[in-house]
Amino acid sequence: MTTYRVEEVADGFYILRVNDRYTRFFEALWEIPEGITYNAYLLQTPEGDVLFDGWKKPFAALLVDALEQVTSPDRLRYIVVNHMEPDHSGSLEEVARWAPEARVLGHPLAGKMMAAYPRARGRFRPVRDGEVLEIGGERIRFIHTPWLHWPETMMSWLESRRVLVTCDAFGGYGIFEGIYDDECTRWDDAVRAMKKYVVTVIGHYRDWITRNLGKLSKLGVEPRLIAPAHGLVWRRDPKKVMEIYESLARAEPVKGKVLVLYASMYGTVEMIVRRIACSLSRAGLKPVVYGFTDSTRPLVSEILTDAIDSEAIVIAAPTYEAEAFPLIRFAAEEICWKASDGKRVVIVSSYGWGSVAAKRLKEVLEGCKYGVIDVIEYNAIGPAAIEPSEAERIAGEVARAIAGGAGG
Ligand SMILES: Cc1cc2nc3c(=O)[nH]c(=O)nc-3n(C[C@H](O)[C@H](O)[C@H](O)COP(=O)(O)O)c2cc1C
Ligand SMILES: [Fe+2]
Ligand SMILES: [Fe+2]
Repeated sequence: MTTYRVEEVADGFYILRVNDRYTRFFEALWEIPEGITYNAYLLQTPEGDVLFDGWKKPFAALLVDALEQVTSPDRLRYIVVNHMEPDHSGSLEEVARWAPEARVLGHPLAGKMMAAYPRARGRFRPVRDGEVLEIGGERIRFIHTPWLHWPETMMSWLESRRVLVTCDAFGGYGIFEGIYDDECTRWDDAVRAMKKYVVTVIGHYRDWITRNLGKLSKLGVEPRLIAPAHGLVWRRDPKKVMEIYESLARAEPVKGKVLVLYASMYGTVEMIVRRIACSLSRAGLKPVVYGFTDSTRPLVSEILTDAIDSEAIVIAAPTYEAEAFPLIRFAAEEICWKASDGKRVVIVSSYGWGSVAAKRLKEVLEGCKYGVIDVIEYNAIGPAAIEPSEAERIAGEVARAIAGGAGG
C-alpha cells in the first residue's frame, strides 16, 4: 500500500511526501531497491496558498487527498512548477482540475512542455529569473537554475523564511523514516542517498551545479532549510550540504579511494582482480570492489556513486564475442557519461584467442578524458593468471599515480 505524509516543517509550510516503493528502476534505468519519495510543498498565507511541485502520475489522486488536509480548491492560488520531469509534474492536470482558479507558474520553457496537461497549460504564466511573487506577506523569488536537472528547472526561495525549495537539486533516493536529515537517520546515509541521486540523475550536467551554486551565493541565498523534491529535508547544516554538493559536482576524490570494477564469467579476471585489490589495500589505499559474476550482480547506480569520488579506477573485463564484456562496457560508458573527471585508470583484461576487451575499454575511457596509466592483458582460460608480485606492481603504479596528482 502506498503511504504518504503531510507534515508542517515550518510555520504554515508543509511537506507532502509520497513514498514510492514501486519504482525499482528510476527513469527506467537506475536501480533503487531503497525506493524514492516525491516531495511537494504547500505554503499557507492569509491571501491564499501556494503549492510547489507535485507527485508522479500514479499518485495524483493521493496528492489531491493530501492537499485536502492542508488547503482547499478555493484557497489554492498558485501551483509552482519548478521542474517538468513527470516524477514531479505527473499530477499537474489532476491538481489543476481540483483547484480551478489556481494559476500555474514556471520557467517560460515549462509552458512549452505542458502539452500533456492542457488544463494546467491554459492557466500557465511564465516567471522571469529573479521575479518575486508577493502573497500574504511572503516573498517568493523564482531563481532559474538551468540543467538542475533540465533546461527549465528553477528553485523557489522563500525569502523571509530562508527556505529554499530546490526540486531535484539536493534530492536523494530512499524512503527514510524521518522527514529531516537529523531525524532517525545517520548523516552519512543521508549524504550517500543524495550522492547517488545527484550522480545518476544530474551527473552529466555537473558543471551546472557549480554555476548555479555560484549564482545562489551571489544572490545571497543562505537557506536555513533546504526542501528538495526527493528524500530528506536538510535542516541540520544546510551550508555543509551545499558544500558537499559542490564537491560532488567537482568529483572531489576521497583520499586513497579506488574503485575496482570487474566482470568474470569463469573466475579468470576475478582471481586477477582479487589479488590486485588485496595489493591496493597493502599499499595503503582503499579499494571499493564491485564484480559482475555468475553469482553477483552489482547495481550500476551504486558503482557510479562510488566512481564519482574515487581517486583512481581499476576496471577489468574478459573479452566476450570479440568485444569487452557487455556489462562492463555499459558501466564504463555510464561512468564516462556521469562521473568522469580525468581520473587515473588501470585496465585489466583477459582473452582466450584474440584480445579485444582492453583495446575497447581504452578507447571508451580515453574518449572521456580518463588518464589510462596501464593496460594489462592476460591470455588465459581459467584462474591463476597473475603472480602476487605482478599484483604488487600494479598496486604500486596506482599508488604512485595518485600521489603524483592530476593527469596520471
Ligand atoms: C561466452 C564467451 C565468449 C568469449 N569470447 C571470446 C572472444 O571473442 N575472444 C577471445 O579471445 N576470448 C573469448 N572468450 C574467452 C575469455 O575471454 C577468456 O576465457 C577469459 O579469460 C575469461 O575470463 P573470465 O573467466 O574472468 O570470464 C570468451 C569466453 C566466453 C565464456
Ligand atoms: Fe528531474
Ligand atoms: Fe526528480
